[in-house]
Amino acid sequence: MKDVAGKVAFITGAASGMGLGMARAFTDAGMKVMLADVDEKRLALAEQELKGKGADVATVICDVSKEQSVVDAAKATIERFGKVHVLCNNAGINVGGTFEELSQKDWDWVIAVNQVGVQYGIRAFLPLIKAHGEDGHIMTTSSMAGIVNAGPGWGPYNASKFASLVMTEVLRSELKETNIGVSVLCPGAVATNIGEAGAHRPADYGSSGDKEVIPGGADELLAHGLDPDVVGKLVLEGIQENQLYLFTDPRMIKTVQRRFDRMQRGFDWSANSKALVDASAPGSTGE
Ligand SMILES: NC(=O)c1ccc[n+]([C@@H]2O[C@H](COP(=O)([O-])OP(=O)(O)OC[C@H]3O[C@@H](n4cnc5c(N)ncnc54)[C@H](O)[C@@H]3O)[C@@H](O)[C@H]2O)c1
Repeated sequence: MKDVAGKVAFITGAASGMGLGMARAFTDAGMKVMLADVDEKRLALAEQELKGKGADVATVICDVSKEQSVVDAAKATIERFGKVHVLCNNAGINVGGTFEELSQKDWDWVIAVNQVGVQYGIRAFLPLIKAHGEDGHIMTTSSMAGIVNAGPGWGPYNASKFASLVMTEVLRSELKETNIGVSVLCPGAVATNIGEAGAHRPADYGSSGDKEVIPGGADELLAHGLDPDVVGKLVLEGIQENQLYLFTDPRMIKTVQRRFDRMQRGFDWSANSKALVDASAPGSTGE
């Protein structure tokens, strides 16, 4: 989608961090933006800032973990702007803790926002993007934790981000023959407010108690992370060039390579295992 001026974007988690960075980059490029978030106060501040620069933006309170809320926000976007071209599934949260520490409700909330919220977004917005026939784009914020194991205490986050990454890859293959591009953003450390993610946990998921949002001392790493406005510009560039994978820290290819090295050892071991050798099974898949 080379020509973005005048096009309409819907961004979730737009009141803070990378979502706000995207809203800034998009409006600087002449796009109109519907800012969606659960944080009413930050949403009002973001709107004030962008409108102050003359941008055409509006806001909607939207909880991506609730399907009706996403459907209503999509309706509000069409009512306000007439069309929508770009969806950024960006809202995300975390509850840190090991399998033994986390409750099922902790897992449910992280999966509901980071994974199911992406499904709701795509299902609500794809028909609206297709409807006008102009080009469009769907971008989902996954994480480097969507490609590699982030370590102890990151179970629900890792699981939800792997899911959002692969759903985006599937969507890209499904939309291959259309004029709708698809990207997935995999940030490394970015200096945002994600450490405050517990603040908007809905009552139906109970309390996360004193569990950390960012386990294993990684909050220090995030505090020194990349400027989220740089990420906003990267996303705009990725949309314009229909680039599938957007990485904020290209050095992390080494971490990904180590994962595949470990898998290579697993393939080698399996190929020589007694079970497969006895069954003459390697190669039975035709590879
Ligand atoms: N900060 C990092 O280092 C980092 C790294 C990798 C991935 N990410 C991902 O980037 C995305 C953006 O996060 P961020 O780091 O900018 O954090 P952030 O907390 O600054 O921004 C996230 C925004 O999402 C909103 N939000 C939370 N739950 C929501 C819900 N249910 N519905 C709608 N909005 C909701 C929050 O109110 C907040 O405004 C998330 O998906 C996060 O998992 C962040």
